[in-house]
Amino acid sequence: MLKRFLSLAIVFVLGFALVGSVAAQGGGKLEIFSWWAGDEGPALEALIKLYNQKHTGVEVINATVTGGAGVAARAVLKTRMLGGNPPDSFQVHAGQELTGTWVVANRMEPLTELFRSEGWLDKFPKDLIDLITYNGEIWTVPVNIHRSNVMWYVPAKLQEWGVEVPKTWDEFLAVCPKLKDRGVTPLAMGENWTAVHLFENVLLAQLGVEGYRNLFAGKLSWEDGSVKAAWALFDKILNCTNPDAASLSWQQANDLVIEGKAAFYVMGDWAAGYMTTTKGLKPGEGYGYAPSPGTAGVFNMLSDSFGLPKGAPNRENALNWLRLVGSVEGQDTFNPLKGSIPARIDADVKNPNLYNSYLQSAAADFASNALVGSLMHGAAAPEAFLNDFQTVVSVFIATRDVDLAASASQALAEATAVR
Ligand code: GAL
Repeated sequence: MLKRFLSLAIVFVLGFALVGSVAAQGGGKLEIFSWWAGDEGPALEALIKLYNQKHTGVEVINATVTGGAGVAARAVLKTRMLGGNPPDSFQVHAGQELTGTWVVANRMEPLTELFRSEGWLDKFPKDLIDLITYNGEIWTVPVNIHRSNVMWYVPAKLQEWGVEVPKTWDEFLAVCPKLKDRGVTPLAMGENWTAVHLFENVLLAQLGVEGYRNLFAGKLSWEDGSVKAAWALFDKILNCTNPDAASLSWQQANDLVIEGKAAFYVMGDWAAGYMTTTKGLKPGEGYGYAPSPGTAGVFNMLSDSFGLPKGAPNRENALNWLRLVGSVEGQDTFNPLKGSIPARIDADVKNPNLYNSYLQSAAADFASNALVGSLMHGAAAPEAFLNDFQTVVSVFIATRDVDLAASASQALAEATAVR
């Protein structure tokens, strides 16, 4: 009898241990804050589903504020953080958006210990670790790497119009009138932030890697002739964009290309996620891609990451969320849907069943190209600079005044200590 009882007890304990290793019991809530709503939602939703499978009993609140590049979400987050009402974890770009806004303000918990205990210190690229390190501590967990400098198009349409993919902006400007004559918008553009996104890549083409890096390191003046030349070029490019740009979201601008109303679109590779996951198009067939003109061999990068704000109401659940975000399984669940490559170097990115041909090519370029950081997506400059720079771009679109844009940007760089 005693023997039977003991063996039953062992079976029970073993069974419990097994179940426990698959799905941890837990309770309470977990609020994750991001701007990945609607069309941008599938990758995050898949990650949350995985979290739910592993942590049954935790109620996940997927708090989103719609709006590309987080222009609306970041303002709401600021109000919440300053009001003492932080979410448990929030999306933040690696780089100055993280360090310059939240870390220097002493609002985040360091995560170096988590990186150590999870064995992550050598599992992320060194350049990326540098972007999330400040004062010797690591502050967030990167979930992906996105590329800013991509030009998208529909191969069949280009063929129909007899147009090649431009390798330089001069080549683009040469085909611009030809496309206009056919009633096609040469370059799709959307609301203000997408213009800033385009501008950073025009700047990169005009200045080259060294010049671009120097500009954001405070070693090159915004009033330098080379930077003014970028504004002058931007002026010509703007004349090839759709007049209703200001009222379109990034997805609506993308739709102009998909629908054959526009030829090209310079946008980050979340556009690949949108066209693949939401629109069901295949890379290389339904849509084509190339480095934005004049930027071959350069990968203008940004990374979405999640951090742990001080005072997170559900800290333990948040730590488990970060463990998932930083795991191979989490990254291989999220990124194929998102249109980004995993931040981890040991994820399954070579697996064609997971990562499509666009993502394979992005991973190859990330490994071999020169890397620079995106301005619009938090890597290169502090948010204080970016916010007012968005106004400089709006004013430029209205006035086309190169000298005004140059002096305003320089004044801003000095006031916000860009380096
Ligand atoms: C970026 C973000 C991407 C994508 C994009 C469009 O700032 O890093 O993940 O969401 O905005 O909203």
